Amino acid sequence: MSYDIAVIPGDGIGNEVVEAVEPLLIDVADAHGVGVETTWFDWGSQRYLDEGALMPDDGLDQLEDFDAILLGAVGHPEVPDHVTLRGLRLPITKGFNQHVCKRPTYLFDGVQSPLRDYEGGDIDFVVYRQNTEGEYADVGGREHEGFANEVAVQASVFTREGTESLLRPAFEAASERSGKLTNVTKSNAQAHSMVFWDDMVAEVSEDYPDVEVERLLVDAASMDMVRRPDEFDVVVASNLFGDILTDIGGGISGSLGLAPSTNINPDGTYPSMFEPVHGSAFDIMGEGIANPLGMVLSGSLMFEHLEEDAVAEALWDGVAAQLADDDAPHTADIGGSAPTTDVTDDLHDRLV
Ligand code: NAI
Ligand code: MG
Repeated sequence: MSYDIAVIPGDGIGNEVVEAVEPLLIDVADAHGVGVETTWFDWGSQRYLDEGALMPDDGLDQLEDFDAILLGAVGHPEVPDHVTLRGLRLPITKGFNQHVCKRPTYLFDGVQSPLRDYEGGDIDFVVYRQNTEGEYADVGGREHEGFANEVAVQASVFTREGTESLLRPAFEAASERSGKLTNVTKSNAQAHSMVFWDDMVAEVSEDYPDVEVERLLVDAASMDMVRRPDEFDVVVASNLFGDILTDIGGGISGSLGLAPSTNINPDGTYPSMFEPVHGSAFDIMGEGIANPLGMVLSGSLMFEHLEEDAVAEALWDGVAAQLADDDAPHTADIGGSAPTTDVTDDLHDRLV
């Protein structure tokens, strides 16, 4: 098999991790008889500063025929964050119905969790975050700016299709894993959207009688993710709640730089997109010290999605072996001092 992959490195350390990881993905795939052709797109904040838009008007048309998309990160000190997010990542996730943002949190052997007494494998859960609507729907406005009666309205949008498209794969995953699913909600305070959400969870759960559903309010869930992370397995959450909880996941599993992410179009009409959880990291960009492993693991999840399990497992296991090896190069965020490319070179030696 051979795959056409669109590569959007984006901004800051997005570029650094993509440049280091893309050749590794190609070579590891090749070692397993899988062909990968990449096409690079120089979209992002520099394009915005030069031409007024992060991506061209026909950007989605250009991406539509690829088998998958790899994204680094977008975000620039001179461009407001809402402009970068709404100019590239959101048009792609929404335009391609990438309803499911699946984000595993795993504490690897050899990585120090900031939580006491947790060792490799003790933390192992996956968050299914709604990715196309909810609190991040682009619905609202501002009026009377600068006056005493200034008003801002930001509406949330929850649809049956968008919610069910998230819940079904999450229940499937729970059924295949431990049989436990945690529904993160806030239906005490948000009696329209989150009560609808709870109703959808109850409705879909009828088709999965083997899955036990735990219900947690998001504030309690945030505490429990720190207090008892080992008890989570599959978590479902809205766009905003899932965004926040997965940064907690990145933190408790040792570094945001290790955390992978997927944006899945569940029916396969459009390509899905794979990216690390982290952003462009203004504080370390240009230094060549970003941890590339979140990107490598995102590549692993891309091959899993493409049903190239041997490549996916090789990459995941390679990262696990490197992290467990005290003599291997590690970046500063996980206690080492190695540059980005030493980490990917070492993985290349292990896997190719
Ligand atoms: P960030 O994820 O870029 O950085 C947060 C902290 O984690 C920083 O201290 C950074 O140095 C560290 N960090 C992140 N990734 C790392 C890695 N691979 N290796 C080592 N350390 C790492 O989040 P922040 O600072 O809130 O956002 C910076 C910019 O990125 C903003 O413009 C934001 O909008 C954008 N952003 C973009 C995302 C995307 O493209 N998907 C996701 C999150 C933020
Ligand atoms: Mg986030």
